[in-house]
Amino acid sequence: MDYKIKDIKLADEGNLQLEWAAMHMPALAQVRESFAKTKPFKGHKISVLLHVTKETGMLMRCLKAGGAEIALGAGNPLSTQDGIAAALVKEGIRVFAVNGESVKEYSENVHKVLDFDPDIIIDDGADLHAAAHAKGVKVDVIGGTEETTSGIHRIKAMEKEGVLKYPIIAVNNANTKFLFDNRYGTGQSTLDGVIRGTNIFIPGKQVVVGGYGWVGRGVAMRFKGMGARVIVTEVDPFKALEASMDGFDVMKMDDAAKLGEIFITATGDLDIVIQRHMENMRDGAILANTGHFDVEVDVKALRAIAVKHRKLRENLEEYTLKNGKRLYLLAEGRLVNLGAAEGHPSEVMDLSFCNQALSAQYVLDMHGKLKKEVYKIPEEIDRMIATIKLKSMGIEIDTLTEKQKKYLSAWEIG
Ligand code: NAI
Repeated sequence: MDYKIKDIKLADEGNLQLEWAAMHMPALAQVRESFAKTKPFKGHKISVLLHVTKETGMLMRCLKAGGAEIALGAGNPLSTQDGIAAALVKEGIRVFAVNGESVKEYSENVHKVLDFDPDIIIDDGADLHAAAHAKGVKVDVIGGTEETTSGIHRIKAMEKEGVLKYPIIAVNNANTKFLFDNRYGTGQSTLDGVIRGTNIFIPGKQVVVGGYGWVGRGVAMRFKGMGARVIVTEVDPFKALEASMDGFDVMKMDDAAKLGEIFITATGDLDIVIQRHMENMRDGAILANTGHFDVEVDVKALRAIAVKHRKLRENLEEYTLKNGKRLYLLAEGRLVNLGAAEGHPSEVMDLSFCNQALSAQYVLDMHGKLKKEVYKIPEEIDRMIATIKLKSMGIEIDTLTEKQKKYLSAWEIG
């Protein structure tokens, strides 16, 4: 079996992590149990590009229990947990991912995962979908899924241009994904990444959050919860109003740049923190990004204007500018929660990966019936996931009575 990982001897360490994740992913365990009985993926190959974490490991086990053959690559050069990669290889999954791989190696691995000739493509950020759509690549794919907001932007662009070669389920857009993973998962793990990377004291710090979408809301909320003073920057007037009414200061990045002690970008857009912002920052400012791609903080510009560079800690680099100010970059400007911490906790990935697993089954079940378009996960699946999760948490909720249903759908009674 072909694979490329750091060291197969790390498998035992990976298995301990998987054991820990398994304890916290009860909903996915239920899906796995059902897949083990029905084998929906028997005879099918799935190519996957996801952050190689313990939670992704649990998803791989779930798909494998359903009969799939799997090739897995990293969601990002810094996010791979090498022990998990080794444990999965021992279970017969072709993994092509090494923590710290170069951009060139990352791209070679993407192609290895694609060369597997998949029926289904599961992606996070759409690099695998993009590779499958590159000129000259012949793929005979039944359908795919996409995990994150930035990936949805890209597949929607493919759909708009009429170049999409297969249907894709926008996993990110399920309620049981973005409402929890993007907001609470990223909120907690980004805080975790900043703390692990710097061990800085958060209370009283002036934090600037770029973007107040689902991720930005979670990040701002959690830093505020730790006692930080939070400024939000936005381009959308509704989100800016919401941030203001949630109690945050809202201003332009040009103004925030002078005030911030910690900057966290979360927009899915590029050029959020650029050279002129950096030149105006306070000495000691910390820069981090939690958006999917490393385009939000202009790291190239930072390198270009720096007269001195040192690596201070794992995942923390110091750049001294001509004006003598020192700026500190976390995780090379890549996803700080995955580069400097472990990504989202298992409990929240439980929801996201139920969506991935059931979406993969859905594209197979609907083979031939879906157009080459981007689809939302059907509402009944989304609701079912929420219901399974609530049950696993021991939470019961009320149900509408017939009388209430009638009242809510009638216009005669006020
Ligand atoms: P979203 O679309 O809900 O929010 C993005 C926000 O950024 C919007 O409110 C938009 O108006 C704002 N924005 C766009 N350009 C801006 C600019 N130039 N300046 C200020 N604000 C700007 O997207 P969501 O779900 O919050 O995702 C944001 C990013 O985080 C994406 O790249 C997504 O893929 C990524 N993501 C990362 C995760 C992680 O584990 N770190 C988890 C989930 C998503």
